[in-house]
This record gives sequence, structure tokens and C-alpha cells, in this order.
Amino acid sequence: MSETTKEEGLWSAVKELPANVWSSVFRNPVPVSDLDRASTSFTNFFLHIHPVKVHRNTLRPIYTLGLGLVSFFLFLILVVTGILLMFYYVPSTTQAYDRMLDLRGTVAFGIFLRNMHRWSAHGMVAMVFLHMCRVFFTAAYKKPREFNWVIGVLLLLVTLFLSFTGYLLPWDQLAFWAITVGTSIAGYAPLVGQEIKFVLLGDTTVGQEALLRFYVLHVAVLPVVLTLLMAIHFWRIRKDGGLSRPEPQGTPEAGIVKIRIEPGQAPEVAAQPAADAVQKRVFGLQGFVRGNFTKVGNVPDDSVYSWPNLLMAELFVFVLTVSIILTVSLLFNAPLEEPVNVMHPPNPAKAPWYFLGLQEMVSYSAFWGGIGVPGVMVALLVLVPYLDRNPKGVGRWFARERLLANTIFLSMVLLNVIFIIIGTFFRGPNWQFVSPF
Ligand code: HEM
Repeated sequence: MSETTKEEGLWSAVKELPANVWSSVFRNPVPVSDLDRASTSFTNFFLHIHPVKVHRNTLRPIYTLGLGLVSFFLFLILVVTGILLMFYYVPSTTQAYDRMLDLRGTVAFGIFLRNMHRWSAHGMVAMVFLHMCRVFFTAAYKKPREFNWVIGVLLLLVTLFLSFTGYLLPWDQLAFWAITVGTSIAGYAPLVGQEIKFVLLGDTTVGQEALLRFYVLHVAVLPVVLTLLMAIHFWRIRKDGGLSRPEPQGTPEAGIVKIRIEPGQAPEVAAQPAADAVQKRVFGLQGFVRGNFTKVGNVPDDSVYSWPNLLMAELFVFVLTVSIILTVSLLFNAPLEEPVNVMHPPNPAKAPWYFLGLQEMVSYSAFWGGIGVPGVMVALLVLVPYLDRNPKGVGRWFARERLLANTIFLSMVLLNVIFIIIGTFFRGPNWQFVSPF
């Protein structure tokens, strides 16, 4: 090759460099056709967890209220701010509190970072709880989403535990005594209570061992467990056919044809679609499958492309979540009380707010309040989709057919909220009733 051709080749490579780098990262140009839109979702690492198309109902803000997404985005903020905080924090009883003071006084944006982490953690506990309520009141836990509900209950428990383990880390009076109260509640469990408490604390009292254990649980074990559970949660949403939605109008199962195929026999059709809902499609048949399956494509296509519809909705929720956390973190500082003083417990010593309902119940009966009632509640929560087998009401808020189920669940939620309010505002020294006014 002559020198001139070589130079020309190099020059054109330089000229095309930006376009080539761009197309090596993003395999599609900005989509302008339906094929591009589908292809964009398929070929992008971050987008491919979305289906190419989603049902319109998924995008109705009033249906999901975006609460699951907000919980997820708060978790992302927690991971980022948490990693930055790890650069400064030392899990040692002699250094932890000083590091908090450093964050407040010397580290650039340190206090802001801590505020973001703290308010996101409180926000996540609240949002996950509200997301669970939304799922219940729209009956979204029913078949085939039973197991995803169970994964959800685990997510709620791990979120609570994650927040609880973080509470101890500043090593101030609030942290120390809240964890002392919290872990003593665990000690009320029959037979194994004291063992659980000892395993948690690594000692009989809250001290260096407990701080180290809580730190490891908080920065490594629980985030990994939560990430894994979230991955399963999101994967199940896809496998369960996307988000729940009301049945299509018409016959009870309009648009869905159940076909049973046994080798060597003619297919047996279980339900006919509404005549006007049929949209003819032709599929190539690769082979027969034994058993029941749901034939697709018999309903009017009521779906939209994930790109850009779902993506823009998610982006909006993300920007909103980050903006709210930034604003709250600018306005309010995370609490930091006096350094730990094991000789002077505050009176009353209160658990973190989300456990104040528990603490209130414990004040009536240590065992029933701390272990019995919460244990039964968690067991019932897990069993909800297996006890309620009525398929009615899915995809509608407060469906009339579900009056009893919704009333029971709402009463439980309100009871918990009332106990938390009493514990927060109406309890004074020695857990006596006081007026906050
Ligand atoms: C870390 C906690 C959690 C995260 C990040 C999360 C995330 C999500 C997201 C993003 C969705 C999609 C729809 C939406 O935003 O509502 C969803 C759906 C769902 N979640 Fe969660 N979730 C969490 C906890 C829970 C809990 C505590 C439950 C119930 C006990 C639960 C049960 C479900 C179910 C059954 C669905 C499917 C809902 C439907 O099809 O309409 N999730 N979750």
C-alpha cells in the first residue's frame, strides 16, 4: 500500500472515530421504527430486562403509584452513597463517632452524603411497605404471582434488617440504645431468643463485636441478599406475564384460549375468546408440548413499546426520587446525638421508628408483643396468596368483591401505624403515656 493510501485510510478512520465508537457501544441508532424500538430493548444491557412491549395498564401511574420503582431507586442511591461513606467510616467503638464528626465538619459534602444515605434508608422502609399495601389492595398477589409476593415479604424483612443494622453504625446515644432495645426484643423469642441475641451481638451486650457484626451485615451480607432477591423479583414479574391488570372485558376469560394437547389427539379447547376480541395471527409450529398452555395473540393488542414509553416513565420516577432526596438532604440534617455513654441510657430508650409499633406491643407483653404477634403476622403475610384463592378483583384498587380481605388488611396496617404514632409521640420516661402538645 502506498504512503498516500495509508494516510487516507488513517484519516478516514479518525473522521469516523466518534460514529464508530458510538455504534460499537449502542448497536442501534435512536429508534424511529417499531423494529428499531424492539431491537433497542433487546440489545441494550440495561434495557433488556424490559419486555419489548408492555400492557398499557403498566404505565398507568395511578395503578402502581411507582412505589416499587421508587423503592428500587432509593436502594440505588443507598448503594452509591453507602460506598462513598465507606471511604471514611471505621467500624470501631473508639473511632466511629469521630468519623461522624469528621463527615459533619471536615469532609467536603460529608454531611450531605450522610443525610442522603439516612433519608433514603427511611424512605425505602416506608416505600417498600406502601408498595406491599398497593400490591395487596390491587389483589396483585393472586395466581400466578403468589411466589413473587413471598419474595416481596422477604424483601420487606431484609430491608428492615438492613436499615436496623445501619442504625448502630454512628455509635451515638441514639444508635446504641435503639439497638440495645431492638436486640433485647429478639431475646424474648422462646428457646433460641438468647442464642439469636448472642449471635447478633457477638457478646452479651452491645459493644465492639456487635458493631463489627452489624457493619459486615450492613455493607456486605444484606445488600447482596437484597440484590439477589430483587433480581428474582424482577425476573418473576416478566415470567408472570408483566404486571397484573384487570381481566379484559367480555367473557370471564375473554381473549384467553386454554388448549390441552395430548400426543396423538386433537387439541381440546377449554374456553373461547370473545368473538370481537379475536385477532388472527399465524404462528409456525416447531413442535407439540404436552400439558396446558395459554395461547397468545387472541386479544386486541393493547400494549405499547417499552422504548420509549416505559423507559421515559422510569426516568421520570428516577429524577423525581433523586430530586426529593436531594431537597430533603439539603433541608434536614441526619440526627447525631452525644457519643455512647453506657452508664446513661436516655429515658425512654426508643427503637427505630419502624420498630416502635413492636416496642409499644412489647410494653404490654414481652413475649406476645415482641415475638408472638409479629411472628403470626409474618406467617400470615407469607400465606396470604395461598389462603385467598378467589381469582376475583385482580388489577383493580379496592375491588368490591374483596371487601373482607381489604378490611382485614387495612385494619392491620392502621393498627401498626397507630402503635408507631403512639410509640413516637405519646411515650415519655419509663414508657409512661405523655401528651406531645
Ligand atoms: C426492596 C423491595 C422491593 C422492590 C425494590 C420492589 C420492586 C418492584 C417493582 C419495580 C415492581 C413493578 C411494579 C411496581 O413498581 O409496583 C414490583 C412488583 C411487585 N411486587 Fe415488589 N418490590 C419490593 C418489595 C415487595 C414487597 C414487600 C411485596 C409484597 C409483600 C412485593 C410484591 C410485588 C408483587 C406481587 C409485584 C407484581 C405486582 C403486579 O403484578 O401488579 N414487592 N416490585
